Amino acid sequence: MKIRLPFILLFAVVSFFLFVTPASQSQNPRNVEQRVNALLAQMTLEEKLGQLQQLDGEGNGNFRPEHLDLIRKGLLGSTLNVRGAQRTNQVQRVAVNESRLKIPVLFGFDVIHGYRTIFPIPLGEASSWDPSLAEHSAAVAAQEANNAGLRWTFAPMVDIARDPRWGRISEGAGEDPFLGAAFARARVRGFQGNDYSAADKIVSCAKHFVAYGAAEGGRDYNTTDLSENTLREIYFPPFKAAVDAGVGTLMSSFNAINGVPASANPFTLTKVLRQEWKFDGFVVSDYTAVKELINHGVAANEEEAAAAALNAGVDMEMVSRSFNQFGPQLLKQKKLSTATIDEAVRRILRIKFRLGLFDNPYTDESREPTSLLRPESIRLAREIAGRSMVLLKNDREALPLRKDLGSMAVIGPLADDRRAPLGWWAGDGKPENTVTPLAGIKEKVSAQTKVGYAKGCDVTGNSTAGFQEAVDLAKASDVAIVFVGEIADMVGEAASHASLDLPGRQMELVQAIHATGKPTIVVLVNGRPMSVSWIVDNVPAILESWMGGTQSGNAIADILFGDVNPGAKLPVSFPRTVGQVPIYYNHMNTGRPPDAGNRYNSKYFDVPWTPLFPFGYGLSYTTFKISNLQLSAPRISANGRVTVSVEVENTGKRAGDEVVQLYIRDLVATMTRPVKELKGFQRVSLQPGEKRRVEFVLGPEHLGFWNREMKYVVEPGEFRVMVGANSVDVIEGTFQVNQ
Ligand code: BGC
Repeated sequence: MKIRLPFILLFAVVSFFLFVTPASQSQNPRNVEQRVNALLAQMTLEEKLGQLQQLDGEGNGNFRPEHLDLIRKGLLGSTLNVRGAQRTNQVQRVAVNESRLKIPVLFGFDVIHGYRTIFPIPLGEASSWDPSLAEHSAAVAAQEANNAGLRWTFAPMVDIARDPRWGRISEGAGEDPFLGAAFARARVRGFQGNDYSAADKIVSCAKHFVAYGAAEGGRDYNTTDLSENTLREIYFPPFKAAVDAGVGTLMSSFNAINGVPASANPFTLTKVLRQEWKFDGFVVSDYTAVKELINHGVAANEEEAAAAALNAGVDMEMVSRSFNQFGPQLLKQKKLSTATIDEAVRRILRIKFRLGLFDNPYTDESREPTSLLRPESIRLAREIAGRSMVLLKNDREALPLRKDLGSMAVIGPLADDRRAPLGWWAGDGKPENTVTPLAGIKEKVSAQTKVGYAKGCDVTGNSTAGFQEAVDLAKASDVAIVFVGEIADMVGEAASHASLDLPGRQMELVQAIHATGKPTIVVLVNGRPMSVSWIVDNVPAILESWMGGTQSGNAIADILFGDVNPGAKLPVSFPRTVGQVPIYYNHMNTGRPPDAGNRYNSKYFDVPWTPLFPFGYGLSYTTFKISNLQLSAPRISANGRVTVSVEVENTGKRAGDEVVQLYIRDLVATMTRPVKELKGFQRVSLQPGEKRRVEFVLGPEHLGFWNREMKYVVEPGEFRVMVGANSVDVIEGTFQVNQ
């Protein structure tokens, strides 16, 4: 029989489309849904519950032998902390070759501010007020993590935090929902790109849903009790922004919200997230948060905990195993429906298909070593760290320092610490790759400059035995730079503090150095606002360096010696004392707004009501003037827009950056409204003498609020607009929203 050529060609084309699905096609939404449903139809109940399970590794990136058995049987969908391309491939081979349905494993890890190249802690990065930097750093983190076999990060952490006692304030973007939303969007874009199946991308996870940052007393894991308005206006916006940016997953938080734990909360997980925001990815519980429903007292046992979490909208259970153990009997007892389980499985498979895991389950092991700490990643880490450090004080131009000073005393427990700059969530970052401030300074100064170092004391503990050496060194030097703050263990999870003072004997060390009469500069290395009033009152120059990552020491030196002009601004208020907490700029006015001349007002008897440093604050080596506020219209309709513009001018002698910030106030409304709300910002770079007009557009998405009927409305009336270089020093204008 003769087979003709056109027929063969046709056959070839048809079979190509039938049997070989190129990655781009398999990620096509319709194909994804078809493939999810086709797979779901073949799954046993046990296999379905297996997809809902995530287990932790053994430490150091290793898997547990048990994982392989479970995966072989189709009983484990995801791991956390297992990493390294060789290891993940080894695990994946079991899933793909030895399990009945060949469903690949999803490898997750906390890639928070870098995988191996560590960038500033997120609170630091947010101080840049330049979300594009966060997008770039997340992209580097994704590239490194992907090459190390990971496909999923538990980031960005987008919790609003108004309480610096809470150690996790370091992991987010600070106290403001507008700034927080901008950073949430940027980080999701950086990790995921347009298509997270790409070889240098990973799927991200907005966490911790929700209001975890409002833990009472700043005590980690604690209860929160918040009005729905506050949830919607303060705590939800960064999550909504992440969802709108296409975030693939969310993590439900540990805390209870108004009596209902977040990991069993149908209002947040289903009504808001799925029904209002149309999120179609999956929700993973936080670590053992499902089992902890028993401690919360809303479940008598793990069986009830599983039902409560799954029915509320948690899809994947991290570490505890209640879904797997009790799913079958809950189903029999009709406390859980097949539809609910199927929906959870569907959401997880959907993300696995979108990741391209079925088509490309493995990682190219040859790429891992060359993908880490690339020169361009290190350069970026240095640049971002420099753009994230906040100059808090600089009297009589104490900074920048000359590189050719005769001698310099580098003092303090954090001057040569390689671990602290990496922060608590250091990914796979290694202290041996950290440039310490001492190293950065030595690299920068002239060959003739003598750089001496004395630790002085530890961050913790009571010993002052090293003070004398430090004092002697300061006395023998032209200038003393003192590095004080927190070690990495003091920030992040389970690191709540009841005091915001410098720990240990560090304040006395600063005082002893200052008492020598030598010009003294303090550099703070820390992960939360600290109450350092004495330093602010006495020391001429203070730099907030945060925990600046792998390149922290170089970035600090760039600023101290003027190669980089600082332009960052605080994304969070600094209290004078812990007793002022919570202190945040977007508070309500009260019936008796603070007034120094009147006793019966909302203030303290013993300290001012104002913060040590306000939200949005930060200095530069140059000066700026913001003037000439103009509005495009005196009145607009409720759905109209108004353009607000100001002139910003560099009035000093150096090129530098100013962050122009726009705030609004709805002066009279049916609900109390904040005295200020950030609704726009731009970081602009200007040459000396350069002047530029900066424009912001305000529309209904900025002007409205959630009213008493829990509807988002723009109410008619007068609005004040305020523009400035921080949340206090502003120029003003007003406009009307018409009836
Ligand atoms: C933290 C999460 C983290 C998870 C996995 C939990 O204890 O709250 O932020 O993603 O552990 O490491």
